[in-house]
Amino acid sequence: MKKEDYIAYEILVKSFKDSNGDGWGDLRGIISKLDYIKDLGVNYIWLTPIYETPNFDNGYDIKDYFTLNNQVGNFSDFEELIEKSRNLDLNIMMDIVVNHTSTHHEWFLKALKGDKYYQDFYYFEENKNNKPPTNWKSKFGGSAWEFLPELNMWYLHLYDATQADLNWENENVVKEIYKIIDFWLNKGVSGLRFDVINVISKPPLPWKDDLEGDGRRFYTDGPKIHKYIKTMVKNTLLVEENLLSIAELSSTDITNVVEYTNPNNKEFVMAFNFHHLKVDYKNGDKWTLMTPDLNKFKNLIQVWQEKIQEGNGWLANFLSNHDQPRHVSRFGNDEKFHSESAKAFGMLYIFLRGTPFIYFGEEIGITNAYFDIEDYRDVESLNYFEIMLEKGISKEKVLEILKQKSRDNGRTLMAWDDSNNAGFTVGEKSWIKPSPGYKTINVANQIEDKNSILSFYKEIISLRKTKDVLSLGSIKFIESPDGIMIYKRILDDNQIIVIINMTDKIISIDESLIIGNIIINNYSDLSNNLKPFQAVAVEV
Ligand code: GLC
Repeated sequence: MKKEDYIAYEILVKSFKDSNGDGWGDLRGIISKLDYIKDLGVNYIWLTPIYETPNFDNGYDIKDYFTLNNQVGNFSDFEELIEKSRNLDLNIMMDIVVNHTSTHHEWFLKALKGDKYYQDFYYFEENKNNKPPTNWKSKFGGSAWEFLPELNMWYLHLYDATQADLNWENENVVKEIYKIIDFWLNKGVSGLRFDVINVISKPPLPWKDDLEGDGRRFYTDGPKIHKYIKTMVKNTLLVEENLLSIAELSSTDITNVVEYTNPNNKEFVMAFNFHHLKVDYKNGDKWTLMTPDLNKFKNLIQVWQEKIQEGNGWLANFLSNHDQPRHVSRFGNDEKFHSESAKAFGMLYIFLRGTPFIYFGEEIGITNAYFDIEDYRDVESLNYFEIMLEKGISKEKVLEILKQKSRDNGRTLMAWDDSNNAGFTVGEKSWIKPSPGYKTINVANQIEDKNSILSFYKEIISLRKTKDVLSLGSIKFIESPDGIMIYKRILDDNQIIVIINMTDKIISIDESLIIGNIIINNYSDLSNNLKPFQAVAVEV
């Protein structure tokens, strides 16, 4: 398969389908839903981490890379999943987390016992003056350093304190990482998504305080990053063609993304970036209330699409994932225009140049969670709940902010039907609640309905596969009024114009843009006065 043909579906395993009633999603649950996934038209399934884990960060804290989390299943379930997926032409992609391990990993436990060989696997620093070695901040709040009184040392964790950063300068670490990669590729997976891979290259020692920020400028796309990646690809089965390798990139830039994904460089096939989603971070701060700035959003999508195309790079396109709120609530209108806006934003990104990543549940328009404090599970949300209260923000406001920004918004249960727990489990309990609309927003309700969000997603996915111009074509943006995004996909003589009203207002566009063969429309009629969240594609 060519990279242009991939269409991926991300599954947060613990929230998708629980087959044994323990309240936790599992591999057998996924196996039971393969026909549903196939029917969507996708061809890649990304599984969030399924390794043994103490689960402080949703499984992104790995205790053992070669053992499965027994809540999720065992190797015989895994092999069955690979085989049954293969029979349906579905590929399986694993999540590889190698910037850090869990502090429960045996390497870290040995380091804690004072074993120098394993201390060198991480960043351990002697305690000098009873304060952290640098002022760098953890992405989940607080210092990036944790003190170990028994050793009188500090260790670095860019994420949670239970996620200790690995030292990629140490060849022994790198060798272990190559073994992990090859182990999973030998197991028959056809893709790997590399978690926060652009922060693995730290600057040379001694490290210093960041007087302008939280330290990220020192290690983001760090000094040896491209060398590390090229060497990794050469020395593992990643060197083989036909594997999908994806970089998840934190706070990166266009130049680096081109370098990571231009095929001549033999690094990654494609990359995720997040700039287009940070348009509701007031002054760059996620933990604020803000309506997304649509002009900024439109501009970022355009600039990244055009520049990545110019550099012959390739993007993984998405609007929702396990770290983000649901886009129908964030950018759309999950009440009055629920169906229209879910369809419009789905089409907006699925027709872009690059590979679409559909996040489970968006195909039926699952909304944000609208939780009370006791319903939250995510470590980042719980940390920031405390941090914001300490800053003196009122509890009411903090809860409003969590309702808009918490990662748990994207982690609620898949809604299969309107029964207890949305049909996610045969048991009584589930690890998290479903989003509140599940009585009506569920698969059973939409599957037969030709006008449902689900049916619309199947149609756009099918168009993405049957119209070569949508997968292979180049992209060009067309100037449009505020609130509207218009772009053209072009392949030889074929052109498709994609027009999206991103607002709940009627907005007029140039009449000439809608002359041609309408291949899809989320309303039953079309004029140059676009209706709220109207989305159309016209073949010219
Ligand atoms: C990535 C994951 C996120 C996790 C973090 C640390 O951003 O997507 O869920 O918390 O890395 O591993």
